[in-house]
Amino acid sequence: MKPLDKQSQQSVTPAAQPWLIRAEQPDDTDAVEALVDLAFGPGRFAKTAYRLREGVRPDARLSFVAQDGAGDALWGSVRFWPVVIGESLALLLGPLAVVPQLRGRGIGISLMQTGIRTAAALGYGAVVLVGDEPYYAKVGFARLTPGQIRFPGPVDPDRVLGLSLNGQSLTSLSGDVRRARIDIAVCASSAPVGGGA
Ligand SMILES: CC(C)(COP(=O)(O)OP(=O)(O)OC[C@H]1O[C@@H](n2cnc3c(N)ncnc32)[C@H](O)[C@@H]1OP(=O)(O)O)[C@@H](O)C(=O)NCCC(=O)NCCS
Repeated sequence: MKPLDKQSQQSVTPAAQPWLIRAEQPDDTDAVEALVDLAFGPGRFAKTAYRLREGVRPDARLSFVAQDGAGDALWGSVRFWPVVIGESLALLLGPLAVVPQLRGRGIGISLMQTGIRTAAALGYGAVVLVGDEPYYAKVGFARLTPGQIRFPGPVDPDRVLGLSLNGQSLTSLSGDVRRARIDIAVCASSAPVGGGA
């Protein structure tokens, strides 16, 4: 799918066109990265969540995109990264982004719901994220107690949210949040790797 440059951004019409959610494919990568760049800008790499993504690939089974019905344009994207919290494998949701002109049509919520449903079916126990509670509460996220889980950098405690996928109470989620593994060699080691490192 073609990358989303400024020109194709402007040509997207907000009319009630049909759209669908599907698994991200390798040739979507450029378009997804262009969309995430547009939504968050280059400053996103400085965020604490990126320390948990550095050198780690997202779980490819949980990367979904929204596209228009004709399959010509990418309208939204969600990815999930594996993390370890305390001693448990979990997921970090995000980035989640929708083309600005097409927001407010349920695309973001559908992307998350598809990912969450698939994550539960794969056996993941919980998802965490740093984000706006009023939005993520729409798919079941709740604020965690400040300090309950500890990110490898500064985060606003009011924006640390969690969702249980296995029926266990969110209070069972505790400890340091670490990278689940290293897939790609990185120069600087920021967040410790999970599994006892
Ligand atoms: C956040 C984002 C993904 C939402 O996508 P979307 O497709 O517009 O969302 P949906 O259509 O599924 O949901 C829209 C609803 O969520 C609400 N909403 C959207 N963003 C919100 C926010 N930050 N806080 C509270 N409510 C929010 C809308 O008001 C709307 O509510 P309504 O249904 O009661 O009218 C999109 O705005 C975006 O890409 N933003 C830039 C990137 C970003 O901030 N990502 C999230 C990181 S924390």
